Amino acid sequence: MKPQKQMMTKLPVKDLAKKIICDGHLFLISGERKFYLMKPGVLVDPDFVKKHAPINSTFDFECVVNQELKDKFTNHFRELRYLQFEKDLRLKCSEIVHDFYLHYSDSEHFLSFALACHEAFCGISLDDQLRMHETDMHLFRKALYSSAFAIITGMTNDFFHYLMLKDFYNLTFALDIGLCESNYSYYVSEACNAENRNPGSGRKYLLKEKASDFESALFLKHPEKSYQYIKERSILAFPELAEVTLYQHELTDGSGFPRGVIKGQISSWEAVVIFSDSLVEILSEYSFEYEVVSYLINFENQKLKDLPVNRVYKKLCHAFSHFQAMKETGS
Ligand SMILES: [Fe+2]
Repeated sequence: MKPQKQMMTKLPVKDLAKKIICDGHLFLISGERKFYLMKPGVLVDPDFVKKHAPINSTFDFECVVNQELKDKFTNHFRELRYLQFEKDLRLKCSEIVHDFYLHYSDSEHFLSFALACHEAFCGISLDDQLRMHETDMHLFRKALYSSAFAIITGMTNDFFHYLMLKDFYNLTFALDIGLCESNYSYYVSEACNAENRNPGSGRKYLLKEKASDFESALFLKHPEKSYQYIKERSILAFPELAEVTLYQHELTDGSGFPRGVIKGQISSWEAVVIFSDSLVEILSEYSFEYEVVSYLINFENQKLKDLPVNRVYKKLCHAFSHFQAMKETGS
């Protein structure tokens, strides 16, 4: 998500490309294909710039991936993949959440985790990822981050099976892929973010920004388009889970779109995906070093008023408080 206009600082082009871009700012999927998380000319929140003074360009940031940490999560996911018994799966997931918690204050923590998740779980074709990335780098980043949240939220909500977690990952990643159309605009994805923060505000936002009919239609249709996208490909181990893409902007009081769901219809696993998609505020800053655990614990959002989503959130916080208690007692 881009910062609001009055908060933006435009970095002078002459100051860009001073240094070679580092691993944390891009990662390679295969061969020459690159996905940037920051790129020349990006508009950066001044607070972030101030914090990293005296940087002049996005290329001057320190590398934001901790390779050791990333490898640690990669190994965990590899082991998880071959476990079969519930006891072992539960134990491994608990270890992963523990490591997520233990390293949260490391400056490179979250991006390292997100990249390990991407390598382990992403099943969206490279071409479609590129399409998404080319449509909007911010949209791609949001997908990359919120789907990593889906892994940690899933695990703390007793979903341990690799394939189920993988489905959570890909569902969260592809929730907004329906936005990637020719009439896409920055305002459309901003409306989606507004809707996530404060249900019902997306359409108002588009009206305020005088969005075109095409943009409004795209916004209202994107849950269905994402649903079609997932249905037409064999991305999911459990294809019936695709329905959650339709519920991304629904609330159980029947409000929301595209259709309004009846109270109680959203299950825990759907809430995992919907909740993870709501964690967008973190993306308003280019703060890869954000202390994600504190962020999660202090998270406040309209959707938390919705029972199933709140239940999922509480279990996530409960897991962290459990590890905090362990830390305090030294066990
Ligand atoms: Fe959306």
